[in-house]
Amino acid sequence: MTFTHAITRRPVKELAAGITTSILGPPDYIKALDQFNAYVNALKQCGLSVTVLDPLDGYPDAHFVEDAAVVTPDIAVITNPGAAPRKGEVPSIAAALQPFRKIVWVQPPGTLDGGDVLMVDRHFFIGLSDRTNEQGARQLGDAVTGFGCTWTPVRVAAGLHFKSSVNAVGSDTLLTTQPFADHPALAGFHRIVISAQEEYAGNTLWVNGHLIMPTGFPDTRKKLETLGRPIIELDTSEFRKMDGGLTCLSLRF
Ligand code: GLY
Repeated sequence: MTFTHAITRRPVKELAAGITTSILGPPDYIKALDQFNAYVNALKQCGLSVTVLDPLDGYPDAHFVEDAAVVTPDIAVITNPGAAPRKGEVPSIAAALQPFRKIVWVQPPGTLDGGDVLMVDRHFFIGLSDRTNEQGARQLGDAVTGFGCTWTPVRVAAGLHFKSSVNAVGSDTLLTTQPFADHPALAGFHRIVISAQEEYAGNTLWVNGHLIMPTGFPDTRKKLETLGRPIIELDTSEFRKMDGGLTCLSLRF
């Protein structure tokens, strides 16, 4: 799938107040801004026109815009984020997507985080996690089925979101952590399996033929190089401290 647009959001100064399970310490705002700017430039290098939204006061996780929506070729599904402090992020994302797609809303008691949704061509893997429940997954599944897409629910046993562990790195190839190496839900896809020490590198982004991966994972890089695609490495240390990574920093469509 070729993407033409991305929506991103600059972090607030208080990004350290966001939700995290990490023990890596608080993020540095200035460093995070530098990393964010490098990320926007990488998306531009992949041919995307990038919208950068203003920081959203009072929402220290709001730069993880991917959790607030799922954008398909047909519609934009605005989520009901599973974490209470993040629910107020969605109106501004809906407004940003309004010019591009018909908007559909996930309704409570359904909850859904976009980080749990992996779209591969016209199939959706929807992670069931602490953030995404069965009702939320079903609402998204029903919405995309209406446009001829298919979907599979997949239980997320580790990491914040499904895409903390599994991402597409080609039209028929997934990059996965070891627990998903033989997962039956992913049958039919080639799988590149990450070593246990490099799990964070599972959050690699495939955009218009490029692979954007976090720096510092040489074993995963070697495995990805076998695909013969250009690789862009980005330092995401400050977002990692807040359980974030490359996929959740943008909506691509
Ligand atoms: N800090 C990202 C999240 O917990 O949603």
